Amino acid sequence: MSTSRLSDSSRPAAWHITSMNPAEAPWPLLLLADPSREKVKRYLPRCVCYAARQTAQFTPSGLGALIGVCALQPPQDEQAQWELMNMAVSPAWQRNGIGSALLHHAIRELRKRGVQQLEVGTGSFGDQLLFYQRLGFRVSRIDHDFYLRNYTTPLWERGVQLKDMIRLTLAL
Ligand SMILES: CC(C)(COP(=O)(O)OP(=O)(O)OC[C@H]1O[C@@H](n2cnc3c(N)ncnc32)[C@H](O)[C@@H]1OP(=O)(O)O)[C@@H](O)C(=O)NCCC(=O)NCCS
Repeated sequence: MSTSRLSDSSRPAAWHITSMNPAEAPWPLLLLADPSREKVKRYLPRCVCYAARQTAQFTPSGLGALIGVCALQPPQDEQAQWELMNMAVSPAWQRNGIGSALLHHAIRELRKRGVQQLEVGTGSFGDQLLFYQRLGFRVSRIDHDFYLRNYTTPLWERGVQLKDMIRLTLAL
């Protein structure tokens, strides 16, 4: 289990990583990473999920409030790979190492299953590209016009419309 503490000592801030039932994943977090509720509804039930939880905050389950999610889809056919479908950390908690810890945890779990490769698709520019490459992912291909073909509403990041998806692969 990974744990950490934010540097701001004014708030109770310990967190830890656990497995999570996909049905438990909170929509505000899932939609941060993927604005299409319809798409999320399709892939989420078949995903293996992990969560970052704020241990200091009381919840009825005793596990702590969810502040990060990571959803991994097993291969859908013989040619396919495991794919990271959704990954998000609550804005107030971002850039504290939680996303990296979640993904490292997921990678360790996939290795235990004997998985050799993990794929992810993300926008062709932006912070996420840096995030994945810092963790060792390498660019494998470009899916031109992916966001134009698959989303009914245009997606924008810092005033630039997202059009192409970069596919990245991590050898495990
Ligand atoms: C991408 C995301 C999951 C990363 O989680 P995180 O807990 O913030 O990540 P970490 O703290 O482990 O790593 C942060 C690193 O990622 C990159 N990064 C992530 N978010 C960033 C941001 N908003 N601005 C600049 N760099 C960012 C940087 O390299 C950063 O390292 P640094 O803090 O040393 O500069 C999180 O920012 C998020 O939820 N974003 C919104 C949802 C999303 O886009 N998900 C990915 C879909 S493909």
